[in-house]
Amino acid sequence: MCGIIGYIGRQKAPQILIEGLKRLEYRGYDSAGLAVVDNNNRENKINCVKVVGKVKGLEPLVSEQVLNGSLGIAHTRWATHGAPTEINAHPHCDCKKRIYVAHNGIIENYAALKSKLEQEGHKFQSETDTEVLPHLIEKFFRDCSLEEAVARALTLVEGTYGIAVICEHEPRKLVAARCGSPLVLGLGNKEYIIASDVSAILRHTRQVIYLDDGEMAILTSDDFNVVDVESAMRGETTKQIYKQIQEIEWDIKQAQKEGYPHFMLKEINEQDEVVRNALRGRLLMEEGTAKLGGLENVEDKLRGIKRMVIAACGTAYYAGLIAEYMFSEFAGLLTKTEIASEFRYRHPILDEQTALLNISQSGETADTLAALREAKRKGILSLGIVNVVGSTIARETDAGVYNHAGPEIGVASTKAFISQLTVLSLLTLFLGRQRNMPATEGKNLAEELNLIPEKIAQILKQQKYIKKIAQQYAGYEHALYLGRKYNYPVALEGALKLKEISYIHAEGYAAGEMKHGPIALVDKNLFSVFIAPYDTVYEKIISNMQEIKARGGKIIAIATEGNKDIKKIADDVIYIPPAPEMLSPLLTTVPLQLFAYYAAAERGCPIDQPRNLAKSVTVE
Ligand code: G6P
Repeated sequence: MCGIIGYIGRQKAPQILIEGLKRLEYRGYDSAGLAVVDNNNRENKINCVKVVGKVKGLEPLVSEQVLNGSLGIAHTRWATHGAPTEINAHPHCDCKKRIYVAHNGIIENYAALKSKLEQEGHKFQSETDTEVLPHLIEKFFRDCSLEEAVARALTLVEGTYGIAVICEHEPRKLVAARCGSPLVLGLGNKEYIIASDVSAILRHTRQVIYLDDGEMAILTSDDFNVVDVESAMRGETTKQIYKQIQEIEWDIKQAQKEGYPHFMLKEINEQDEVVRNALRGRLLMEEGTAKLGGLENVEDKLRGIKRMVIAACGTAYYAGLIAEYMFSEFAGLLTKTEIASEFRYRHPILDEQTALLNISQSGETADTLAALREAKRKGILSLGIVNVVGSTIARETDAGVYNHAGPEIGVASTKAFISQLTVLSLLTLFLGRQRNMPATEGKNLAEELNLIPEKIAQILKQQKYIKKIAQQYAGYEHALYLGRKYNYPVALEGALKLKEISYIHAEGYAAGEMKHGPIALVDKNLFSVFIAPYDTVYEKIISNMQEIKARGGKIIAIATEGNKDIKKIADDVIYIPPAPEMLSPLLTTVPLQLFAYYAAAERGCPIDQPRNLAKSVTVE
């Protein structure tokens, strides 16, 4: 959480920083701030402005104070330590207001560091963990360079950080360092941008370098240097680390709304294309299997595994739950999906016949990353399904498959989920055909998968109809989402979508469990959503619907086209095209996303940036 950005070059920094911060706002948006070196001032004074709330609140402050230097740092916050107030907003400074730091991460030993610094006479302004950093840098900044002082400060720190630092004494330098929180360096023409992710950089350059943990970048407008923090601490800043320059495929258009009122709606509408992109070049129709280039070098190892453990968070975790059904049924592979934050605390049994699969849109989620590192410590094969190219999880897994879904900016994940399901279907084919799946079954699955984009496009055409239904239900305060088998995790995801963006309390449940508790909730304030396509559990879920209807509950059903009977039970029905059971979540999810979107819109909610949430959860 939290987004940081720093600019050094020849252009005016404030506009570039604010524009970049807006792209990072999905990482947190309860307060924002920016600090710029005033190069017109003989003392190179640093001016800092902060605001509670969204980044756009900075714009009037910047023009009022005529901030126009060409070196600066900025931050958008998701509060961890201290309320979202102006004082707690970043950047934070030292006692003399000469050193400014923007930080993403958590300094776990900040209390001990703070009390020592206070004893030494340092005066703190905020309640944040971050503020120990500028004070530590101030303490060490004697007869040495800024980078050396920063490195000395960092060696005392426990926890995670991505930081950007500027100071009046060295007014043509920006120092950034990383440990556990992502940082990307954009290489422009005589200008450099350091940011928490590439979306903030794209407008300026596509040439980037990903910093690794323990690395520090020292930037001037003419040059950059990447060193390790340990060497910097000893003053050895000429010992450069060779970093590969990477070219970003995403373009800036993909990171814009392009006429849609919200990114979420744009991203839902991209989903037919998203599936096409995930399938492109990967389906071998004749052989009835999938070709996954990223797995080629571990193909033999994969053939030998007996168990798959999937670790993920949020929506990605629900994609993993669906894969549990897919891999077991079609690849005969024992699969267990774990909430990443629980995984490593339960002493997981990981032997050499087990592989760990991480699913993560951002590739930066702290808990998912921690699960991956735990698996690596145990020496087992680690795989990733990741959307953001070059992200930490993508780089640290042994092998993996990219989603190619393009940037997902709405905080509530939509297209990444559909893309994850597509890749998991491909992986099922691949693992299944490595094992016992007959060629005919593989071919059939491949053909059906190929038809999914067109079927999603058909569902998207029903938007007006779904909007009308959502408007009818937007006044309710409670919802129950019920599904069975492949559509049980879809019920969880549908409920999550509704609660996170509309704030209607929603619970997802396995329909078979309904009678063990949730049915007690049925009253006039609650509606139920049944995910009931024609599948092997259809009859069972119809019985569950009857049970709710008998108690006077309102029902929305997601059903297969042509099913007229269901109208006799459900109050409202949204139809989806037929598909094999395993692939049905790729279709049943879409109306639930649209339903949540339009219910939230009707309630006037800030859809792309729901309260208290952040897209990339980089703290545990
Ligand atoms: C946050 C986001 C969710 C996302 C989850 C996992 O909670 O709001 O949309 O599913 O993190 O993120 P990841 O990037 O690892 O998929």
